[in-house]
Amino acid sequence: MQTPISGFSRLSKEEKIDWIVSQYFNQKPEAKDTLTSYWNQDEKRQALHDDFIENTISNYYLPLGVAPNFNINGELLTIPMAIEESSVVAAAAKAAKYWGERGGFKTEIIGEEKIGQVHFIYTGDAAKLGSFITEITPRFLEDVSDITANMIKRGGGITGLELRDKTAEMQDYFQLHLTFHTVDSMGANFINSCLEAIAKRLQHYINQDDRFTSEEKEIEIVMSILSNYVPNCIAKAWVRCPIEELEAEEGLSKRAFAEKFVRAVNIAQLEPYRAVTHNKGIMNGVDAVVIATGNDFRAVEAGVHAYAARQGQYGSLSKAFIEGDEFCFELELPLAIGTVGGLTKLHPLVKWSMELLGNPSAKELMQIIAVAGLAQNFAAVRSLVTSGIQKGHMKMHLLNILNQLNANDSQKEKAIEHFKTTAVSYSAVENFLQSV
Ligand code: MEV
Repeated sequence: MQTPISGFSRLSKEEKIDWIVSQYFNQKPEAKDTLTSYWNQDEKRQALHDDFIENTISNYYLPLGVAPNFNINGELLTIPMAIEESSVVAAAAKAAKYWGERGGFKTEIIGEEKIGQVHFIYTGDAAKLGSFITEITPRFLEDVSDITANMIKRGGGITGLELRDKTAEMQDYFQLHLTFHTVDSMGANFINSCLEAIAKRLQHYINQDDRFTSEEKEIEIVMSILSNYVPNCIAKAWVRCPIEELEAEEGLSKRAFAEKFVRAVNIAQLEPYRAVTHNKGIMNGVDAVVIATGNDFRAVEAGVHAYAARQGQYGSLSKAFIEGDEFCFELELPLAIGTVGGLTKLHPLVKWSMELLGNPSAKELMQIIAVAGLAQNFAAVRSLVTSGIQKGHMKMHLLNILNQLNANDSQKEKAIEHFKTTAVSYSAVENFLQSV
């Protein structure tokens, strides 16, 4: 049984590691070496990473890959992707090439609205509260003007404030529901600061007003927080081309491929078990770009899946259909992301990734992310309805298996050649290595 420790965060990095190694690794020196071998040699750079979170003891690497040849609205982009799954970047690059030859990806922004709420308990008359909130809304906006001034200068700010009566769902429960435009920032800090300030003022104004009884004045602010559900902050991406221009796939005519593809997406629309995996494929592309650009993938994930269930049943985020003689495939994604603030200027690889993308605005980055999701979904469903997913997936996984089996360079070369025409599996690779 380990001994609890107090004041851990005040220990130096070395002391923290020593404590962990003594408590959990039986003083094994390799446990410390593994951590220190991932420290950056440049002390300043390491210090920067140390400061991102509390109790940093090392750096956790993810590969940063790039997928070239993305034609988005006529502009060619190379997209940075940070992800551990072997086949994702290859699939993105393949889909980019495929659609690059068929007119490219098109995108648009459907909305940019962010949301925040003050949740509170009020025991009095709802109509009285409603007219009071309408009356004091201009004062709220005035009260937070020191927080909103810069955002307003950049073209954003608070765009709406309304009282929502939630007493049918929970006794005495009300919300101030606010909408925001946060321009190029994700806006979490801005929104939360506004909400907390407004919550305090709400309490103050009710307290001071004689129209409320002493009981009504006792409002309780339960919490003030942004919502990661952003159904009006949407990027749409789509591809379409005449069925004649699709590639004929193994054993399928162009039309049969288009029809089978549409059927597969329809299954994801109506069947939650399939929908979750289908959407996971989309998020392979989305998260990889969200992480490479220093954005909050947990916020994006939470919001996206809530959106996928907005009709009461979890379904596909993408749609495929045939219109006349055209194959159409599209994706709408709620994306609360930013290109300023957060890690965007701080993390050297994030800064680099942003530069690679031409330092996009948040609106532009939302569209790029939606394209990455659509491309990934196309690649996955295309494989699923033709060769099956394992062929490509295991090919990409081959190097991981070879590394796990400690293959040397010459064995790797031979294995890569051999498995061009043979199915990859762990045991097949093991047998092959024994035979060479
Ligand atoms: C694997 O990471 C993602 C897929 O399962 C997505 C899908 O099934 O559509 C291949």
